[in-house]
Amino acid sequence: MKKVKILSTGCYIPNNVLTNFDLEKMVDTSNEWIITRTGIRERRIADKDQSTSDLAVEAAKNCIDKVNFPKEEIDTIIVATITPDMLFPSTACIVHKKLGIKREVFAFDVSAACSGFIYGLVLAEGLLKIGKSKNLLLIASDVLSKFVNWQDRNTCVLFGDGAGAMLLSSTDDEDIEDGIVGTYFGADGNYDELLYIPAGGSKLPASFETVQKNLHTIVMSGKEVFKVAVTKMVDSVVKACEICGISVNQLDLLIPHQANLRIINAVGERLNIDPSKIFINVDRYGNMSASTVIVSLDEAITSKKISKGSLVGLVAFGGGFTWGAAILRI
Ligand code: ACO
Repeated sequence: MKKVKILSTGCYIPNNVLTNFDLEKMVDTSNEWIITRTGIRERRIADKDQSTSDLAVEAAKNCIDKVNFPKEEIDTIIVATITPDMLFPSTACIVHKKLGIKREVFAFDVSAACSGFIYGLVLAEGLLKIGKSKNLLLIASDVLSKFVNWQDRNTCVLFGDGAGAMLLSSTDDEDIEDGIVGTYFGADGNYDELLYIPAGGSKLPASFETVQKNLHTIVMSGKEVFKVAVTKMVDSVVKACEICGISVNQLDLLIPHQANLRIINAVGERLNIDPSKIFINVDRYGNMSASTVIVSLDEAITSKKISKGSLVGLVAFGGGFTWGAAILRI
């Protein structure tokens, strides 16, 4: 088995800022309600003509350029997203084209909602370890603003757009200590109707009726999502640490999925982690779905909150329900 090295991370956040005060003018809500219930102050919204692949490409370029990596050496592109540019081709194929990579690659999307980046990491690790890939670009990109009902105050205050990327490579060097230390992941499809977009797939293809009934936007049972999210995120961190033979306290930083500050705080309390070791940017970006953990990791590295040798835990939970955690040595 080969070892897996993390070469670089990057991110892209759209410029347009939508504040809680802007939302006050759109739906019956208040800055105070949103901050108290979610911790979110503002989120970023992609331009009308910006699709998921556009954000993905910018994040990928940011990631590749940081280490001047020759893009022709990338043999695999995985994009974690639930807001693909279109049903097919995959967003990963579109990213391959837009990056201008000439060589043929292995390219596909992963659909695991907010857990998409962790699921992608698990796949990346497998492909790199068994030698099916040498240099792999893993991207998480979501433009949920285009699938939000902007008249529904229960959901529209929660989400934002963004993308993050990671470049990983396989190596025969037995002595490297950085990379993916271990992962834990799971799903339970019995929760499918607590968080979903009803139409637009083969079950309910787009029609005049689906548009009229607003069935192409997110439907969510907030309270139920909250409870299961906390339980599964706590469980995922504990199990991932067990798999790695470490205690939760040994983590230098925990990067939880940024859906809601109350979920993050509840997870931190149950794991008994010092709040200073929990990364938070949900106040600035809202819930960017699969992108939250990789954007956060990139920000934590860039801001020097973590440095070479740091042990970092990523944990996510999302529609499906899906969940997962990854322990990384940076
Ligand atoms: N502004 C003002 N009032 C609102 C708003 C709003 N934006 N949204 C809902 N309300 C109202 C409700 O209508 C309700 O009014 P009522 O009592 O008259 O019926 C009241 O506020 C309380 O609603 P609750 O549902 O009890 O509020 P709660 O404290 O549960 O918070 C929230 C709601 C923020 C959605 C919470 O349940 C939550 O965060 N759930 C997790 C959902 C989530 O994060 N989803 C993202 C995808 S999954 C993931 O990424 C983990």
